[in-house]
Amino acid sequence: MQIIVKENYDRMSKLAAEMIADLVRKKPRCVLGLATGSTPLGTYRELIRMHHEEELDFSQVATFNLDEYIGLPPTHEQSYMYFMCRNFFDHINIHPANVHVPSGITEEVPSYCEWYEKEIKEVGGIDLQLLGIGANGHIGFNEPGSSLGSRTRLKMLDEKTVKDNARFFSRLEDVPHFAITMGIATITETRQLLMQANGENKAGAIARSVEGPITAMCPASIVQMHPQVTIIVDRAAAKKLTRRYPSEPPPLTPGK
Ligand code: F6R
Repeated sequence: MQIIVKENYDRMSKLAAEMIADLVRKKPRCVLGLATGSTPLGTYRELIRMHHEEELDFSQVATFNLDEYIGLPPTHEQSYMYFMCRNFFDHINIHPANVHVPSGITEEVPSYCEWYEKEIKEVGGIDLQLLGIGANGHIGFNEPGSSLGSRTRLKMLDEKTVKDNARFFSRLEDVPHFAITMGIATITETRQLLMQANGENKAGAIARSVEGPITAMCPASIVQMHPQVTIIVDRAAAKKLTRRYPSEPPPLTPGK
C-alpha cells in the first residue's frame, strides 16, 4: 500500500491525473473505474487539460462508475451520470458507448446489478478504480456494515451520507436515500486502486482505513488487502495518520 501525502488539493489531483494518464498512454484500451463527488473534480479537470493540451486520447477507453442514486434519471442535475458528463465526459473524446454509469431508474434492480457486473467482466475487468472516501469510511455507497464480499446491489444510504450530500441538493428532503453501488468485492477485484482524500473531515476515515483494523464498519479499510493500492491525501486528510509517509511515489530504482 502506497500512501502519498501532498501539500494540497491541487497537487493531490495532479498526481492522481498523472497516474491515470500514464495508464491511458500505456494501455489505450484500458478500463477505468470512476467516482463522483467533490474529491475527483480536480483530477478530472487535469485530465481534460491533458486531453486538450497533450493529446491524451480517450477514444478507446471504457469507464464504469461506482454508483448512482435511485430515482434520478440521467437528465437530473444531481444524478451521477449528469455529473460525469458535465465534469468529464463532455470534455474528452470518450465514445458514449464505452461509458457505463449504473441506472438510477431501472425497474429490475437485481437483474440490472447482475448485468452491470457481467459488463465489467466482459471487458476484461477494471484496470484502475478511482475512489473517494466518505467521512464515515464508505467507498462507493458501501456504508459501514456492508459485507466485504458484496457485489453491485441496492444500498440504503447512511444518515450521515444523506446529510453530507445534502450540500449538492437545494433541500435535505431531496437527497435520495437509496443507490445502486458496486460492491466491496467488485471494487477490490480491480487491478489497481487509487484512492484520494482531502480536507480535515476525511482525516478520521483515512486514519481508520490505513492504520486501523480491517472491518466492515470502515469499508475503506479493505484497501489493506489489495496488492496494488495508492492513496493520495492532502495534509489536512493526513492529520490523524501516526506513521511516516512520503510526498512522492518512491523512485523505481533505489537511489545510492
Ligand atoms: C461517489 C462515491 C462516494 C464518494 C464519497 C466522497 O461516486 O463513490 O463514495 O467518493 O462520498 O465524496 P466527496 O468526494 O464528495 O467528499
